[in-house]
Amino acid sequence: MLVVEGLVKRFGGFTAVSNVSFKVDQGEILGLIGPNGSGKSTIFNMLSGTFPPSAGSIKFEGHEIAGLAPHRIINRGIGRTFQIPRPFRRLTIFENVELAGFYGQGSHSRAKADEAAEKALAMVGLPTDRRAPVDGLGAAGLKKLELAKALATSPKLLLADESLGGLDEAEMDQAADMLRKIRDELGITIIWVEHIMGVLMRVVDRVMVLDHGEKISEGLPSAVSSDPKVIEVYLGTDADATQAAAAEKRR
Ligand SMILES: Nc1ncnc2c1ncn2[C@@H]1O[C@H](COP(=O)(O)OP(=O)(O)OP(=O)(O)O)[C@@H](O)[C@H]1O
Ligand SMILES: [Mg+2]
Repeated sequence: MLVVEGLVKRFGGFTAVSNVSFKVDQGEILGLIGPNGSGKSTIFNMLSGTFPPSAGSIKFEGHEIAGLAPHRIINRGIGRTFQIPRPFRRLTIFENVELAGFYGQGSHSRAKADEAAEKALAMVGLPTDRRAPVDGLGAAGLKKLELAKALATSPKLLLADESLGGLDEAEMDQAADMLRKIRDELGITIIWVEHIMGVLMRVVDRVMVLDHGEKISEGLPSAVSSDPKVIEVYLGTDADATQAAAAEKRR
């Protein structure tokens, strides 16, 4: 479905993503992990057209999309969430999602956008009541709203920049289960970015690990979490390693 080759992003003299290649198969959940600043969101920004790559190729369903504008990419079926939710606070929850559906689907049909918004809100478990305000949503609610907005664009591939840092353990598990449900019930392929490894490992089919903009490991969760390179640069502490091992057992 997605074939990325030699992806590079430079900001001035700094290389944030360095020659990264990977593939995503239809129907899989690929986990993308790595420490803070390793280039995860930058990869999403290039896949979604937020900014163009400095070099490299991104083929989606056989077509080159590197450097296309965000609205063209979303209309081809790549939806994304943002790590830091910034909803329109003067619109209702429903209106935020409806707006995403209206422009994201490319059809500019209010009826289709409304239908997509209702389905998306029900999927993530937010109120479909059209008057419910954005204010009052906590960290978990705002992340659900991000997901609903992305789903309303009817993506084939969902880029979920989750960063569950602000959530408690139950909320993290819920978020992980929701991504699996989105894949299982809607058939949407997912790349999931997260730097808390334990919760991600439970859900993904495959994992890719970045460090300082370079891909350092890729494979099944069990193989990646015992890769010495990953343990060294990513896990760092014994506490994190124990957490990842425990998550592996729960799979
Ligand atoms: N627009 C930008 N201009 C300049 N530097 C940037 C820009 N966006 C990202 N960077 C830098 O690129 C590097 C990678 O950032 P990125 O946001 O991709 O990391 P990340 O892996 O998503 O980290 P986190 O886990 O904290 O979300 C960082 O050093 C960051 O400061
Ligand atoms: Mg990020």
